[in-house]
This record gives sequence, C-alpha cells and structure tokens, in this order.
Amino acid sequence: MSRIAYVNGRYVPHADAAVHIEDRGYQFADGVYEVCEVRDGALIDEERHLARLWRSLRELAIRAPMGEAALKLVLRETIRRNRVRDGIVYLQVTRGVARRDHYFPAPDTAPALVVTARSIDRAKVNAAAEAGVKVITTPENRWPRVDIKTIGLLPNVLVKQQAKEAGAREAWYVDADGRVTEGGSTNAWIVTGEGVIVTRPAESGILRGVTRATVLEAAQKLQMRVEERAFTVEEAKAAKEAFNTAATAIVTPVVAIDGSPVGDGRPGPVALELRRRFHEFAARAAG
Ligand code: PDD
Repeated sequence: MSRIAYVNGRYVPHADAAVHIEDRGYQFADGVYEVCEVRDGALIDEERHLARLWRSLRELAIRAPMGEAALKLVLRETIRRNRVRDGIVYLQVTRGVARRDHYFPAPDTAPALVVTARSIDRAKVNAAAEAGVKVITTPENRWPRVDIKTIGLLPNVLVKQQAKEAGAREAWYVDADGRVTEGGSTNAWIVTGEGVIVTRPAESGILRGVTRATVLEAAQKLQMRVEERAFTVEEAKAAKEAFNTAATAIVTPVVAIDGSPVGDGRPGPVALELRRRFHEFAARAAG
C-alpha cells in the first residue's frame, strides 16, 4: 500500500511529498514538531502532545497553521489514509516559505504544516524493549531551550550516531555538574536501591516528555515511590534499574551505561511493569 503525506493543505503520495527549498525549516531549522503514538487505531496522549505543540509555537512566535479541531482532523485523516493501527504520527510546523533572511518573514507568511504516519511492528518493538538497551553518556552541548520541541536536532543526531557506533541505542546527556539531563530522543530515569523512581524535574534542562508525564502519573497511581530530582552518572551506574521514555518506545529498560551493567544487566521489574501498564494510564483518543 502506498503511503500518503499531508503537506500544506493536500494529501499527496509520500514519494512525491515535498516542501519548497526556501521553507525556513529547511534553511534555518525554524520549526517545531511532535511525535504521537498510535495504538489500536487510537492516538495516545493527544491532548498533551497538542498542548506542548502550542507551547513550542508560542515560545518561538510561530503562528499556528490551523486551529486545534482542524489539526486533529488532519492527524486522523493521515492515520486513516495510511491505515495505521499501531505506529506513529509525526507533525512538523515551520515558519513558512520566504526568501532566505534571518529576520522573521512578513507576518502574513503562512506557516507550513507536514503530517506523516507510519506503522510499527508492535511485536518487534516489544521484543527489542524487553531485551533492554545500552546507553552511553556524553557532555550536554545543546542550547538552553531544550524545552521547545524544535526540529533543530543536529546535536541529538550526532550523539545518537555516536551511541550507535558504540553499540548502544541511546546517549544520555550529562550537565556540567555530572548530572544526567536526558537522552538524545528520550527522557532518562533510574530506580534506586531503595526502589525509588527518579527522574529530572521538567523545568531543568529537559524536554517535558509527554510519556514522562504519563509515567509519573502511572507510578503514583500504582503507589510506587517517585522523586523528581537530578541524578548523577555514578548514581545511575549504581542504580537497581534504569529506563528511557518516549512516545516512540514508551518505557524502554536500560541494561548498561557506558559499558557497566545496570543492576543484574537485565531489564528491571519496575521498568517492565510500567511498560506493561502504561496504556492503562495514557489517554486514548479515537484515530
Ligand atoms: N523524541 N527528550 C527528547 C530530546 C526527545 O526528543 C523526546 C521525544 C523525549 C520524549 O518525549 P515524549 O515522551 O513526549 O515523546 C525526550 C521524539 C519521540 C522524537 O524525536 O522522535
């Protein structure tokens, strides 16, 4: 079946989908994005993803490409046209097309919107997650506004590639005080020897992950002990468990950090329990 993309008001074959060479996303990474899970045809945590999208747009003074109700329709139509039951929907908004010039373009320049959707083999993702992943650590080198979900992901691309070349799945950024901020495309968590789930506060040097917010709520409802505080690489290496969260992988156990095994080197029970139960606590919206 051929894939379909939504590009600035039209549904087009994926192979022909294109934006203008002077789209500011292409020239300046002047845009924002969201990735939302689709499960059994439903959008997972759609409201939180859209709330973060509006916030990212506001922070960068990019106009919304359309209202919320219309955008929800486009997301659903893109999912429907691609017959996605389990997968992801990706959306990207840029400041639009204008002659290359660093200053913002004229206020009537239309923002550009692209939406794509693709299926993911849930069994394969589950098998990979349940085997656990390895992470490496790397110095934080991103701009301070990582709370904005900008498409400017070059530092993330470089550390993810560095991780891959080191035989790992993810790279955890480490701040100047030796504390983990987050992964290149995930939020980072540990479970201490006392069984306390620890993740860095949303206000300090991380993207406010939607999965993170839902996992925090789930852990609290499951009466697990949770602390929002920064943790060091040493603490993580000595932890009982570690895991990553993101819309694309939900909860993924981390089994090694810089080559040292975490706990017994196998996915931990807390991470696996949160992974198994995540969708009981996530909001579902019909796709
Ligand atoms: N990444 N931190 C970073 C830097 C991220 O890029 C992401 C998501 C997260 C987790 O956020 P959420 O739970 O809302 O997905 C944290 C997406 C999935 C991506 O770039 O593909």
